[in-house]
Amino acid sequence: MDIENIKKEALDKLENIKDSVDLESFKRDYLSKKGKIRDLFSLVKDLPIEEKKTLGQKINQLAQEIEEVFLLKEKDFIKEKKEEIDLTLPAKPTDLGSLHPITQIRREMERIFQLMGFSVVEGPEIEDEWHNFDALNIPEGHPARDALSLGKTFYLKGGNVLRTQTSSAQVRYMKKMKPPIRIIVPGKVYRYETTDASHETNFFQLEGLLIDENVSVANLKAVLKKFLEEFFKREVEIRLRPSYFPFTEPSFEVDMLCTVCDGKGCAACKRTGWVEILGAGMVHPNVIKNGGLDPKKYKGFAFGLSIDRPTMMKYKINDIRLFHSGNLNFLKQF
Ligand code: DAH
Repeated sequence: MDIENIKKEALDKLENIKDSVDLESFKRDYLSKKGKIRDLFSLVKDLPIEEKKTLGQKINQLAQEIEEVFLLKEKDFIKEKKEEIDLTLPAKPTDLGSLHPITQIRREMERIFQLMGFSVVEGPEIEDEWHNFDALNIPEGHPARDALSLGKTFYLKGGNVLRTQTSSAQVRYMKKMKPPIRIIVPGKVYRYETTDASHETNFFQLEGLLIDENVSVANLKAVLKKFLEEFFKREVEIRLRPSYFPFTEPSFEVDMLCTVCDGKGCAACKRTGWVEILGAGMVHPNVIKNGGLDPKKYKGFAFGLSIDRPTMMKYKINDIRLFHSGNLNFLKQF
């Protein structure tokens, strides 16, 4: 039987290990599944049971012994290797990442609204149709639900959708919180779109909702103006243009006096002097009802703005598709 031989041979080899290559080949030759020690078990296979037992034990013992010596050797070797590190060499440069421009702008927006007493909350990106549409006064068959309008919807198996608007969180929080409610909901939304320089299939929105007993359009206007002034760090003039959203009444498109030409008219504002910046309105009584609140007692305003667009304005980015391009040359600029 060559247990003793193998033991001698292995210890001998271990004694003579000089580098990591030797270490690796020893491990492979002796300690691996196909190594010499495991091989010994094949000799035992056909022996009568008693002999099998004693011999088996011996082989196990051997394996343990050799492994212990090997580990000690390995440890020594690692220690030695560490000592070889030349501390005078210059360090390898590390590539530090940076926050995505959208993240930076989102955080800035959150900070401003938090100063005004709004809480930052989140809603699910996989949403049920009720919260994305019905709860917001967009019943089945409503034109806003069809593929040409707000409802450029990705439908999922089982009836859920990828939310097309952060407004879908409105009723969730009305049900969860007691008025006064002051929240913003930043997050990703999805639209079934053909992409181009200003359209993406997913982008970021920031929803705002305030519900209380005495709320007026003047409050809405003041909050938005203050927000935009903080955000653009300058005086800002805004105007509300009548518009239509199913979940607000009245509804507005909010324009900002063009910051490039101060309203004189330029290419950035298509010569109108104004730039459309967000949608807003007074929360529709049906939506307040869907949130489990009494629309006779509670009123509120809501608004929704894209995070992508102000980011593009601030950093002069001319193609929305760059945000998800993973292009490091683009991202490293921020
Ligand atoms: N959800 C709208 C959109 O995606 C934006 C919006 C408009 C949100 C008016 C609102 C609102 O809360 O009041 O286009």
